[in-house]
Amino acid sequence: MQNSVISRRSALRGLGFLTATGAVASVLAPASASAATELPPSEVAWKDGKYVLPPLPYEYNALEPHIDEATMRLHHDKHHLGYVNGANKALEALAAIADGSGDAALTKNWERELAFQGSGHTLHVLFWNNMAPKAGGEPKGELLEAITRDFGSFENFKRLFSASAGGVEASGWALLGYEPVSGKLQVLQAEKHQNLTVQGFIPLLALDVWEHAYYLKYQNKRADYVTAWWNVVNWDDVAKRYAATQK
Ligand SMILES: [Fe+2]
Repeated sequence: MQNSVISRRSALRGLGFLTATGAVASVLAPASASAATELPPSEVAWKDGKYVLPPLPYEYNALEPHIDEATMRLHHDKHHLGYVNGANKALEALAAIADGSGDAALTKNWERELAFQGSGHTLHVLFWNNMAPKAGGEPKGELLEAITRDFGSFENFKRLFSASAGGVEASGWALLGYEPVSGKLQVLQAEKHQNLTVQGFIPLLALDVWEHAYYLKYQNKRADYVTAWWNVVNWDDVAKRYAATQK
């Protein structure tokens, strides 16, 4: 039981959903107004009993020329917002089923919706915060040590992650995460947002390879987008999330 709680706390920390004081916010319990304000604005993904769209941690054009302003505006303001609204709609429908006023025959439908929309929301929050202008390069410190331990080298990791991103069938993600059973970093694909995970896996670095993430600038050249994306990876953010899994 204690391990379960630790794991859930670690998972929330990995996605930035714990307050600075370690109190569990958002998913496990309603976040108080004060708890929500302890997070950077770009990580406040749940507030006042609902999922909310946090602002980007930088300007829309900050990732130019690698990711263009028009894509960022559409992606954040329209696509991500759609997942926030969809997740809230699913929560409302499930609450109605729970209190007897909803249609219980639709339980599976709404739970599938919550998995899809909720995962879309949390992965996009991670994705925005994983990027920064004038970033890229290589990780340092404990994160680099863990990557080297678990993949052989940073170059090996980069090769695997790029192959994962390039190989996603249709819409999905490449993810670097911490798998608590093995205690190792792993790379996984996510199809759509919610499929193909190892339960308990804590995403630390997410690359969106849905076409909405790159088609305006790169058209069908996903590999060019992936190559460009390495130039905006905020390794300090990834390192912070990795450190949180080790506490
Ligand atoms: Fe996306």
